[in-house]
Amino acid sequence: MKKLEDYVVSIPDFPEPGIIFRDVTSILQDADGLAMAIDSIREMVKNLDYDVVVGPESRGFIFGVPVAYAEHKSFVPIRKKGKLPRETITAKYDLEYGTAEIEIHKDGIKPGQKVVVVDDLIATGGTTEAIAGLIEQLGGKVVKLCFVMELAGLKGRERLAGYDVESAIIYEGK
Ligand code: PRP
Ligand code: MG
Repeated sequence: MKKLEDYVVSIPDFPEPGIIFRDVTSILQDADGLAMAIDSIREMVKNLDYDVVVGPESRGFIFGVPVAYAEHKSFVPIRKKGKLPRETITAKYDLEYGTAEIEIHKDGIKPGQKVVVVDDLIATGGTTEAIAGLIEQLGGKVVKLCFVMELAGLKGRERLAGYDVESAIIYEGK
């Protein structure tokens, strides 16, 4: 039987020489791969007490919403700046070149709510750190951070020390 990682196509030297790109779309392209990915995240949260799934645009939507639906939880999106129509709070974080800004609706998380974050990938952990900050600024409690893939060489887990981090597939490199 195939494992989840068997569905990931790795592309050498993309987007630049020396980088191996782990393509999550190759999981989605296969019905069994998609089901396995969603089920693996459901497994990570099945015994948790939480209220909300938070997922960041855009790849976090792909995995976050099906998990929220299957577990009958609500879903709150994190979006890139300027996309959400109501009152928001914003977080800035560093990318390899420059900075990015993400937002969440102010009423997305109520004080005291317990939150699970779902995304496709943890690399440097910068995106997730910013997301956790937004949730906490609204008075939410981050219960768990769940990923399909982790690039362990980029040490995102160290950056997120103190949080419960789980990834379905861990690659040792960058
Ligand atoms: C990618 C990926 C994660 C994030 C991980 O998103 O989907 O969200 O980077 O990187 P980090 O751990 O170093 O922060 P990206 O910002 O490329 O946008 P996308 O999801 O819209 O493709
Ligand atoms: Mg993303």
